[in-house]
Amino acid sequence: MFTLKKEDPFASSQECMLIGLYDQPEKFSGKLKTLDDALNGELTKLVKSGDISAKHEAISLVHTFGKIGIKRLLFVGLGKGKAGDDVKTAIGQACKKIRGLRIDSFAIDLDTFTSQKISVNEAALIFSEAYQLSTYDFSGYKQKSNEPEMEINTIDVYTDESSSEIESFLQVGRAYGEGTNSARTLVNTPGNLLKAADLAAYAKELAHSYALEVEILEKEEIEQLGMGGLLAVNQGSVDPPYMIVLKYQGKKEWEDVIGLVGKGITFDTGGYSLKTKDGLVGMKTDMGGAAAVLGAMEVIGKLRPEQNVVVVIPATDNMISGNAMKPDDVITSMNGKTIEVLNTDAEGRLVLADAMTYAKQHGANYLIDVATLTGGVIVALGLDKTGALTNHEDLFEEVLLASQEAGEFIWRLPYTEKDKKRVRSSAIADLNNSPGREGHAIMGGAFIGEFAENTPWVHLDIAGTATTKTAHALGPAGATGVMVRTLALFVENHRSEKEIENIVKNGDITKKTK
Ligand code: BES
Ligand code: ZN
Ligand code: ZN
Repeated sequence: MFTLKKEDPFASSQECMLIGLYDQPEKFSGKLKTLDDALNGELTKLVKSGDISAKHEAISLVHTFGKIGIKRLLFVGLGKGKAGDDVKTAIGQACKKIRGLRIDSFAIDLDTFTSQKISVNEAALIFSEAYQLSTYDFSGYKQKSNEPEMEINTIDVYTDESSSEIESFLQVGRAYGEGTNSARTLVNTPGNLLKAADLAAYAKELAHSYALEVEILEKEEIEQLGMGGLLAVNQGSVDPPYMIVLKYQGKKEWEDVIGLVGKGITFDTGGYSLKTKDGLVGMKTDMGGAAAVLGAMEVIGKLRPEQNVVVVIPATDNMISGNAMKPDDVITSMNGKTIEVLNTDAEGRLVLADAMTYAKQHGANYLIDVATLTGGVIVALGLDKTGALTNHEDLFEEVLLASQEAGEFIWRLPYTEKDKKRVRSSAIADLNNSPGREGHAIMGGAFIGEFAENTPWVHLDIAGTATTKTAHALGPAGATGVMVRTLALFVENHRSEKEIENIVKNGDITKKTK
């Protein structure tokens, strides 16, 4: 898809070239000066007249009328370019515009996107990720699509810099973008077309493509292992449940294992604690956590970091029938803890309980669960913030750093002894799955914490962030693929306690500045 080019970018005969424009003094310098000279000072005039703007995300399309080889120049305003994220969204807007031009290739001058803060390598990564994310489209099931039929197959990337790593940075950005887009597609797919069996088949295919180990537990094995949470939620369904496991081993030994656990409810009716007719719409997205961990595993499979990762996904829908679980039922989870079901719509925590236990059995030393778990997190934090809970400061700090690098906002909720008491307050069982509406995003996380036990754990509630109602610079309305990039970055950057100790001992860096 990308071809690196060292020659004079403006001599090419491309249909369109993307150029970044930082908010800078009137006079052009460097490559922009060369371009302006070739166009007899026309660019300076257009900037003065306001026809080309350096305002953040402003798009200006200019024809060159045969004065240079390239037919059209697409300028994108980068403003003051304070952060990589600003450059990313600006590139996203520009790529959306290019997609609408109905051309099958374009060029970018990467050097116009670099700054004191952004190296050419970073610019390459930002560009290729933003390109993937912003041009994503879920074509859906319409007989006739309105979208342009033209696909872009080649992008010429021009730079004068002599970094040998640009190519691999382009590939890394692409992997992050593609992993996120795969998660988006899973989430956008309706419940009748993506059942637990389909999620399992998808995981198998992923394993095949990226040489991962895969284990798919079927109902009989799930019963033998006593996964009472997953079985209870599946009880009302005509479709069988699956427990999906993927393993990636990047270290010699199976140690220091990161467990990524994702809620895989392919449709959530609420069960006998039935949702309202409005509440039901959109519940095909209740496997957003599963999609996030699968998307992250795709990135990991492509980039192959020196880490060990196990992904565990409990997959089923949550339906109603004569067999379905009922409020007041008591069930026994895989680790032996009994649970009083007070609300069948709090099903995510029931299936995740078993998945957490199973991830630990597979050797997970760290656990991160991702789930569209509660409406409560939306009430607490809105639609653009992922809620977090943790039992381990250092692990949370690592996840937070990764989320900041990914530009995915996380906000930590309190998790106290009183919260633990509330999930343990059942007259007839060890736990109850719904201690009431007060702080119920915390209750959801606290319940899952009972199954993390002493293993370092971070809970991520993406009920608000897994989807968006409006199109944005880096994607359309619908599924966002949230947490794919945070999780993959976390895995790539992760250092075990032992590794940190060694680094600190050698005096290279301190633990805090890791
Ligand atoms: N899948 C829902 C949470 C959800 C709500 C996801 C809105 C996406 C958008 C979850 O299973 C659920 O129903 N949670 C209940 C929990 C309650 C019964 C304790 C909720 O949040 O109301
Ligand atoms: Zn529910
Ligand atoms: Zn749910």
